[in-house]
Amino acid sequence: MAIIQLPENLKFGVATASYQIEGAASKDGRGLSIWDTFSKTPGKVVNGDNGDIACDSYHRYKEDVQLIKELGSDIYRFSVSWSRILPNGVGEINQKGLDYYHRLVDELLEQGIEPMCTLYHWDLPQALQDKGGWASRDTIDAFTNYAEIMFKEFAGKINKWITVNEPWCASFLSNYIGEHAPGNKDLQLAVDVAHHLLVAHGKTVKLFRELGVAGEIGYAPNTTWKEAFSNRSEDIAACQREVGFLIDWFFEPVFKGNYPNYLVDWYGQKGVKLKLAEGDMELINQEIDFLGINYYTGNLARYKKGSGLFDCEDIDMGENRTDIGWPIYPDGFYKVLTYIHEKYGDTPIYITENGACYNDDVENGKVNDTGRIDYLKSHLAALQRSIDSGVPIEGYLCWSLLDNFEWAEGYTMRFGLVHIDYRTLERTKKESYYWYQKLIENRWYEL
Ligand code: BGC
Repeated sequence: MAIIQLPENLKFGVATASYQIEGAASKDGRGLSIWDTFSKTPGKVVNGDNGDIACDSYHRYKEDVQLIKELGSDIYRFSVSWSRILPNGVGEINQKGLDYYHRLVDELLEQGIEPMCTLYHWDLPQALQDKGGWASRDTIDAFTNYAEIMFKEFAGKINKWITVNEPWCASFLSNYIGEHAPGNKDLQLAVDVAHHLLVAHGKTVKLFRELGVAGEIGYAPNTTWKEAFSNRSEDIAACQREVGFLIDWFFEPVFKGNYPNYLVDWYGQKGVKLKLAEGDMELINQEIDFLGINYYTGNLARYKKGSGLFDCEDIDMGENRTDIGWPIYPDGFYKVLTYIHEKYGDTPIYITENGACYNDDVENGKVNDTGRIDYLKSHLAALQRSIDSGVPIEGYLCWSLLDNFEWAEGYTMRFGLVHIDYRTLERTKKESYYWYQKLIENRWYEL
């Protein structure tokens, strides 16, 4: 049995996102987002679930902040519903929307918890989607306008900002694979959207500096790892293409000011073009203060002609899987972190999401989610390996505080440290909550 000792100064916390927990979808002047529309389109979300009520955190935020506090969290990462602030995406500001986030942030600060605010966790105002959404460059300006409102409004209260959460999901998963809102299946569109999200990110960072906002700004791309099944060069190249698709496409522009050439060529062979306007790459290539990394899963893979977009097929090695079906692959966490560090340098890193789906229910007042505890143990050990390897990790935020609306899976998949009874909205701390609480207090655990 090994003891894993984590650094005393590592910051811990939990993360959530607006549409997944807030509910109150038509309350206090909130406008519709693409997730309201998508979730109400038959066949898009399991059981036809939607975020109208979700965890009702909009009304129960005090109780939720109490849960965060008792956990011993240093940081709470949440996201803002753009259409609560600007019901039409641009134009008139909805004061009641701002008021809600003031109540939440004030409560966090009062309890000694640092807010980390994500501006975009996928809930684009529907009014902007109606005008082309992220395929239109106007959405970039709409986003910076919204960001400016938020920066000015919360100056001095929020010191950690994230522009965009998981741009890969908001582009490829949503516009090529079509599983998330707005549900398109068009590779060219996905490449355009990905580019516009990156430009929006860069423009917002530039604006942040120009406005002289105090605090730090970063973004939170998602990652995964593909380990080559063999050392054959075609297996290695196939895995590199997949890792490039998920990671480098969203890192090289930000850190180096260009897209990976081999992927530009690959897309070119499929008739897909990168459409750059003058100055775009300089805009994207802004220095950020921290990098948010989201990691859940990885796997072995190998070359197979015609498999997926990149001639790469996943190999099932019989790994254990979480209840959502994702292989548990902590080595991938270590590999991703060391890969990013070697390739993109010393920008401080916050793990902005890591966690597991287990659907255990309440039995005799308890939720015995040992699977989640084991997942956290193995991933925190991989994190410690990365820290020992010199990766500048500043903090670790578990996804998620609460079970919540898991996008296309609706309420069927649970990622929370706290169980939600969706009929009564009662919150029950799971065994993993108590385990994480102890870890935060002690900074060590037995593997
Ligand atoms: C997202 C979360 C989501 C989680 C689990 C991440 O991709 O940022 O919103 O709930 O993964 O699927």
